[in-house]
Amino acid sequence: MEQLLALEMIRVTEAAAIESARFMGRGAHDEADAAATEAMRRTMDEIDFAGRIVIGEGERDEAPMLYIGERVGRTGVERRDAPAVDIAVDPLEGTNLVAHGQAGAITVLAASEEGGLTHAPDTYMEKLCVGPGAAGHVDIRLSPTQNLGRIAEALGRKVRDITVVILERPRHDELIAEVRAAGARIKLIGDGDLSGAISCAVSGTGVHAVMGIGGAPEGVLTAAALRCLGGEIQARFRYRSPEERERGARMGHGDEDRVYLTEDLASGDNLVFAATGVTAGDLLQGVRFFGGGARTHSLVMAYQTKQVRFVDTVHMFDRESPPRVRL
Ligand code: FBP
Repeated sequence: MEQLLALEMIRVTEAAAIESARFMGRGAHDEADAAATEAMRRTMDEIDFAGRIVIGEGERDEAPMLYIGERVGRTGVERRDAPAVDIAVDPLEGTNLVAHGQAGAITVLAASEEGGLTHAPDTYMEKLCVGPGAAGHVDIRLSPTQNLGRIAEALGRKVRDITVVILERPRHDELIAEVRAAGARIKLIGDGDLSGAISCAVSGTGVHAVMGIGGAPEGVLTAAALRCLGGEIQARFRYRSPEERERGARMGHGDEDRVYLTEDLASGDNLVFAATGVTAGDLLQGVRFFGGGARTHSLVMAYQTKQVRFVDTVHMFDRESPPRVRL
């Protein structure tokens, strides 16, 4: 069941990637995001399952589609009493990246049995992410310098051979200065800490950790991915205003000192995670269009089956004159 769902879910992230990739470099943030969201919604409703959005485009009054609590999937829409699979989506992670034609945008979906994905408010989270080699060796309550030492030791490297992904934001000036002083290499990114976190759990990407403050919903999706890959995220909610803190508290996340571990954020045993590249990045290739079709590159994994698949798909738009499939 989980395996079947995983393969179906990839159709959802692929469709979103193809539609949003049409907007690459066109400066159209909202249009790119809307195209991805609509494609996800439409494709999910073609699949026979009952889903309920737990992380999506926002609250019902602020998002027309994929809002929290929305029923999705053919069964979910037709039979509203059917037991639902919890769904977390980021239809376009890296809207700015697509708008500016930059690397690293992806479309993302995670699914789990009910209650297996934390309901996170649309606020910030401080995150520390590492791959399987350093999982169990870090502690977000320690300084970045101490954690870099631990990561280096766990990976059998020098700190100078560790690369950390950090979102380029003024709030990270101190963090960046400390990581530089510790001697590690930094990959500053404009957007997309979720993609960075997946990369640190995949050998060959040249990324070993993600540090800093980013979106909380992205943190839950990161946890789902890292759980499947054997990596680790540690996180603490970070609120910018009393209103945000109150919203977080209402969802049970009032304690900013509480450290959430990977299993706290994504506790499900039947986790499925799928992502498709929109613009080329460390991990996935972007959508490539050609006459009559497009080619996508995705990652799909299921926690139970311990399988990670990279999927290379040729989509033929035109049945009458299909494009020739190339290796
Ligand atoms: P989008 O999904 O809106 O494109 O978010 C991209 C992102 O860069 C995330 O990867 C990151 O967690 C968050 O935004 C950071 O938020 P901010 O831009 O407010 O610093």
